[in-house]
Amino acid sequence: MSTESNAAPEAVLARVEELRALIKRYDAQYYLESASDIPDADYDSLKDELFAFEDQYPDLVQAGSPTQTVGIAPSALFAPVRHSTPMMSLDKVTTLEEILAWGARLQKLLAPEDGSPFDCEPKIDGLSISLTYERGRLTRGATRGDGRVGEDVTPNVRTVAAIADELALSANEIPETLEIRGEVYFPVPAFEELNRRQAEAGLRLFSNPRNAAAGSLRQKDPAVTAGRELGAFFYQVDGVTGLPTQSGSLDLLRRAGLPVNPETRIVPDLEAVFAYCRDLESRRHLLGYEIDGVVVKVEDRALHSRLGATSHAPRWAVAYKFPPEEQSTRLEDILVSIGRTGRATPFAKLQPVRIAGSVVELATLHNEDQVRVKDVRPGDTVVVRKAGDVIPEVVGPVLGARLSGSEPWRFPKTCPSCERPLVRLEGESDTYCINADCPAQRVQRIAHFASRGAMDIEGLGEQRVAQLVEAGLLSDAADCYHLQASDLMGLDGFGELSATNLVAAIDDSRSRPLGNLLTALGIRHVGGTVAAAVASRFGSLDRLMSAPEAELAAVEGVGAVIAASLVRYFASEENRAMIERLRSGGIQFEAATDPQLSQSLVGKSVVVTGTLRGLSREQAEAAIISRGGKSPGSVSAKTTAVVAGDSPGAAKLTKAEALGVRVLDEQEFVKLLETGELP
Ligand code: IVH
Repeated sequence: MSTESNAAPEAVLARVEELRALIKRYDAQYYLESASDIPDADYDSLKDELFAFEDQYPDLVQAGSPTQTVGIAPSALFAPVRHSTPMMSLDKVTTLEEILAWGARLQKLLAPEDGSPFDCEPKIDGLSISLTYERGRLTRGATRGDGRVGEDVTPNVRTVAAIADELALSANEIPETLEIRGEVYFPVPAFEELNRRQAEAGLRLFSNPRNAAAGSLRQKDPAVTAGRELGAFFYQVDGVTGLPTQSGSLDLLRRAGLPVNPETRIVPDLEAVFAYCRDLESRRHLLGYEIDGVVVKVEDRALHSRLGATSHAPRWAVAYKFPPEEQSTRLEDILVSIGRTGRATPFAKLQPVRIAGSVVELATLHNEDQVRVKDVRPGDTVVVRKAGDVIPEVVGPVLGARLSGSEPWRFPKTCPSCERPLVRLEGESDTYCINADCPAQRVQRIAHFASRGAMDIEGLGEQRVAQLVEAGLLSDAADCYHLQASDLMGLDGFGELSATNLVAAIDDSRSRPLGNLLTALGIRHVGGTVAAAVASRFGSLDRLMSAPEAELAAVEGVGAVIAASLVRYFASEENRAMIERLRSGGIQFEAATDPQLSQSLVGKSVVVTGTLRGLSREQAEAAIISRGGKSPGSVSAKTTAVVAGDSPGAAKLTKAEALGVRVLDEQEFVKLLETGELP
């Protein structure tokens, strides 16, 4: 970009004015109200645009421009504190190539023989804080403010458990005055809990943990701060000589009893910096606190003073920002979807927007209360968040962009599919369509039945199911197995080939393992793992259906709630009728027996108790069943043998002894599996 001085055209002047005004308004919201109307990414792009203009037309640069300052003048709520050295900002980069360019710029400013490892630290998404310790005692805590003057929040800082009141250093190490800097943050689980409480009390939600941290620390009443579980990490020390490296500063902080981020690493070169950034980005949602990037610092502090700083940021550090997970877009409408259990979930239909690598068109709004508390309305500009694998979510409206005359959204009174009244029980947050014949519920139940992990029927996704339900060809999952290719031909999108393929895919699913069939039935609380455990214990759907509740509850990983749910499901006339039609449709109801294995245990019943060394309880039971045997949960006169691992059940052993049933150790069990004979 040219640095030549040339006069800016009128249109540029106007845009620059507008950008400065917008940025100042958002700064005021962010720093003074601990709230933000727009996502960080949008704010950053306003600032980038302003930087670009000032770069192109240097005459435009002026002291008051937001590019020359950090933050905003402190609020009158708190006493001002002048920082001993300015609390600066960091230059940001968004690609790994730009980190390389930063490294090259540094090398140009230094001598060819100069070199240093790099210190990589998570960029904590909280608010910066400066602490002053005099003779080892905490005497002041201040926010950043405008970088030169911050706000005195000492009483609030004292309530943060992570912040030591007294340094844990030996007397000769304690300087007269020590200033340290770091970041105060809101841990994610505590943030979610806080918002749950806000919602319950009908109060406005915090839009993210950073706003919650700022709002909690900038309180007039320290008791409010004390009630919030704030965390902190520190990364900078001033006022101590003889600290030649950044990692040395961090060591001192650690020894002083102050929290230092455990993900911090010293790496030899930029190649290793890239690896660190990629790794941390892949784990960012597992940390328990929010980070928005990586701060890369030159490890050798002697180079810091030689590199110096620009007007707003040091040259020896750079912030690599992860791609944003929040964007703003228009909320076109709020609709309600009906799940297979009848639950009615409101969701936002959005103007498509690209977030973190994919296009988002729909985002959940969870339930009626969430829509009310967030007060999002059709037509609003909203902030949408897509973090990791989590379902995209509407964070809240951009109030400054709300159209006049908009009304709060109301939850519909009737089901959008069957038009019967929706029901919300007292004390519950979810709303349900309770009509078992509701077409939307049917579609969801059948689509679940056909989904991967269940019967895995290729080509039978939600839209296809909806089409076949609409055409009157499917009313429950069992109908799939009575479909003929000729029924499908002639329907929209079906030719001879696609009809035959779908019927073949359905045929293929007839022999899915028993665990998949159980998952497919969509019994409440019975997911893949429970289904597999129950299938391996009972070996057939019929045995499972006739099992007493106590026997079900005794299966590892099942327990009383799931057992009751299974019993309730199989007690229903309607469900039993559907299961009979699955049987007549040729579905495999028995756990598969492996033809490769000798059926050495046919007619034998082997009970497993305690922990085996070589295989898990489930594997042991599966090994028995796959050889044609049974593996019930209790000992009876019909039991062939009891296999006892470590810490076996005393009742089972006593009963075996009383009935004269052989008790085998693990080695003997393996022999039994091989030969079918009791050793
Ligand atoms: S070093 C001269 N290290 O990011 C500034 N900053 O965008 C030195 N931040 O104001 C800052 N984590 O509030 C540094 N590990 C980290 C950080 C970090 C978060 C914040 C800090 C700073 C802002 C700069």
